[in-house]
Amino acid sequence: MISCNTIEQLRTQVSQWKQSGETIAFVPTMGHLHAGHLSLINIAKQKASRVVVSIYVNPLQFAPDEDFASYPRTLDDDLAQLKSCDTDLVFLPDTAMIYPDGEQSSTYVEVPGLSQILEGEFRPGFFRGVATVVLKLFNLVEPDVAVFGEKDFQQLLIIRRLVKDMCLPIEIFGGVTQREANGLAMSSRNAYLDNQQREKSRLLSETLTMFKQQIEAGSSVTDAQVKCINTLKIHGFIVDYATLRETSCLNTVSDNELDKDRELIILAAVRVAKTRLIDNLKFTLIT
Ligand code: PAJ
Repeated sequence: MISCNTIEQLRTQVSQWKQSGETIAFVPTMGHLHAGHLSLINIAKQKASRVVVSIYVNPLQFAPDEDFASYPRTLDDDLAQLKSCDTDLVFLPDTAMIYPDGEQSSTYVEVPGLSQILEGEFRPGFFRGVATVVLKLFNLVEPDVAVFGEKDFQQLLIIRRLVKDMCLPIEIFGGVTQREANGLAMSSRNAYLDNQQREKSRLLSETLTMFKQQIEAGSSVTDAQVKCINTLKIHGFIVDYATLRETSCLNTVSDNELDKDRELIILAAVRVAKTRLIDNLKFTLIT
């Protein structure tokens, strides 16, 4: 596995590969890798002849009161995992490379609309940070394809829009959410949970399944949502949102739109002590 700490090294290697007719699949990450990240690398391997992974904890997507400083950084373990799944190249930029004049002075890119709702409402500026760093990484790596997780479903939609709107010749693939045996969606931030909180956190995906079952059983959207939020609160979560949306655009859905074959998604964000968890559940309504 080639490890690149400079933009020049990265560009030289990628252009060598391209000149010899190889294709590049890219998986951007913030490190503290787990089986969710590795599943994206496996998809990447199927889509191109070379796989590039980046590890960079992007300051622009953290608000001042968020966990940028304490975000888990486990480079040695990450590199061992990347080697063991045959990653071809890992790109390890630093902030001077990504934001030469400081992240607050950087040119930025923002996907309108989608960036303002749900996660964007609770984390203002978050998707500006994500879209900006991903565009920069795309410009550096110049991949043919890139893979993102459905765990961060809104992020995946925003990246698809970014690629379309900026006319980037990159095909975006989504990977299904990898979960612990108890249903908890894997996340680097799960490292913050103690055993008791980890055990409790499984109730998030369980409660989203209950929301879905109620919609399938003919409940109104409001009733199912209120029940879901109340159940999450009873379990001790602080609920930022739990909501039913159309999968393609994340618009709200009203009762008279609950028709057969509609692609729906329940998205939720909750807090357990200082840890914020997000999860979602996609389904097709069969009435
Ligand atoms: P990070 O949280 O490290 O996630 C990197 C990629 O892994 C994202 O595409 C994310 O959706 C995916 N992922 C995380 N948990 C997953 C799981 N349980 N199953 C499947 N995929 C999972 O998302 C980011 O980093 C950043 O915002 C980034 C895109 C790198 C920009 O900084």
